[in-house]
Amino acid sequence: MRHIKHSSMWVGLVIMLPLFWEGVTCQVVPGYSIDVPPSVPVQEGLCVTIPCNFTADYRITFKNSFGYWMREALKSHYIIATNNKSNPVRKTNFNLTGNPDTGDCSLTITNARKEDAGTYYFRFVESKTSAVKYSFNSMKTTITVIDLTEEPVISDPGTVIAGINKTLTCTPPGNCSATSLVIQWRKSNVAGVWENSSTVTFTPSLNDHQENITCQTTNSRGMTTQKTILLDVCYFPSFTDKEDTNVCTVRVVDSIFIIGIVIGNIAAFILINVASYFCLKRHMEKRQLGNASPDSKTQDMESTYQELTEQKTDIYYSLKAR
Ligand SMILES: *[C@@H]1O[C@H](CO)[C@@H](O)[C@H](O)[C@H]1NC(C)=O
Ligand SMILES: *[C@@H]1O[C@H](CO)[C@@H](O)[C@H](O)[C@H]1NC(C)=O
Ligand SMILES: *[C@@H]1O[C@H](CO)[C@@H](O)[C@H](O)[C@H]1NC(C)=O
Ligand SMILES: *[C@@H]1O[C@H](CO)[C@@H](O)[C@H](O)[C@H]1NC(C)=O
Ligand SMILES: *[C@@H]1O[C@H](CO)[C@@H](O)[C@H](O)[C@H]1NC(C)=O
Ligand SMILES: *[C@@H]1O[C@H](CO)[C@@H](O)[C@H](O)[C@H]1NC(C)=O
Ligand SMILES: *[C@@H]1O[C@H](CO)[C@@H](O)[C@H](O)[C@H]1NC(C)=O
Repeated sequence: MRHIKHSSMWVGLVIMLPLFWEGVTCQVVPGYSIDVPPSVPVQEGLCVTIPCNFTADYRITFKNSFGYWMREALKSHYIIATNNKSNPVRKTNFNLTGNPDTGDCSLTITNARKEDAGTYYFRFVESKTSAVKYSFNSMKTTITVIDLTEEPVISDPGTVIAGINKTLTCTPPGNCSATSLVIQWRKSNVAGVWENSSTVTFTPSLNDHQENITCQTTNSRGMTTQKTILLDVCYFPSFTDKEDTNVCTVRVVDSIFIIGIVIGNIAAFILINVASYFCLKRHMEKRQLGNASPDSKTQDMESTYQELTEQKTDIYYSLKAR
């Protein structure tokens, strides 16, 4: 009894060992190994790049080699992506984006569909005549296609100033360069679809203050995700305006405006200095002539200063009006 138990344990170990060994090293034939995640989830309509690298014949550099991503099907395994241009692969949303010549077998899926869910593995062929050919089918990758939940991203609107055009960009989720998602914008004070593209340019008005802007992405099965931002529109008051709600403060104003103010101030500073120089010069001349009363001198200086202050204010307001 004890003996039987003992031997069955040994049989178990003998069976289990190669499995463990295989699982840990992912290497069945010496010199051949692959690193690829065993399972990858992708949201329906989005993209994913499955990182993958391999070693064949103890090497990771080859020349004009071929890589194939195979799909495991019930009856046969078939190619879903390859860099062998002469191989007829029906147009799919799978792409071997890694270069097998550098041991890179990365696979990219764009616009994932429910029917893409399945089990896949990589096959390497160094060349037609080379003996270095291998199917890494002991290390498969299972792709699962899950519901679309990730939200798109709306670019930071920064300061929104009434009357000054603003462009907003909506980036669909999933970091896809090519996406089949439909992008639509909505604005709470506009009925229906506001814009049918990834960017929208508009002239904000005070009526847009505290309105919602929403970017919505829709996949081929009509699933949607969206992102909403609240518009905060400020304005530059005219001289007659007495209320001061939503007045754009210098603190939040676009850097261009700040630069404008800085340049304006520098110009005014130079003007004041140049004027002071002439003022001083005139003052000295008058003093040398000795025919000016102290009172009129002060008046002279003051009126020049007054003029300059006015000038500076003009520059400021002409900048503000822009
Ligand atoms: C994959 O690349 C990593 C990092 O370069 C390396 O450590 C690993 O050994 C590679 N795997 C295979 C199977 O070549
Ligand atoms: C590339 O594809 C063609 C067409 O299927 C095939 O005849 C050829 O053997 C392939 N080349 C390699 C190196 O597998
Ligand atoms: C696959 O990816 C390669 C490399 O990024 C690119 O040159 C090629 O056009 C892509 N093919 C498809 C069908 O997307
Ligand atoms: C987005 O994809 C590019 C290449 O297409 C990659 O360089 C970048 O790291 C990715 N960004 C994120 C956040 O995944
Ligand atoms: C956006 O597309 C929808 C459907 O194609 C259309 O009904 C709507 O008029 C379009 N709206 C704009 C602003 O282009
Ligand atoms: C501001 O945006 C509107 C709407 O897109 C456009 O018609 C107008 O030409 C733009 N104005 C400037 C100055 O860019
Ligand atoms: C903006 O959206 C929030 C919730 O996202 C909602 O409570 C609010 O009523 C909306 N405002 C307008 C003007 O539609």
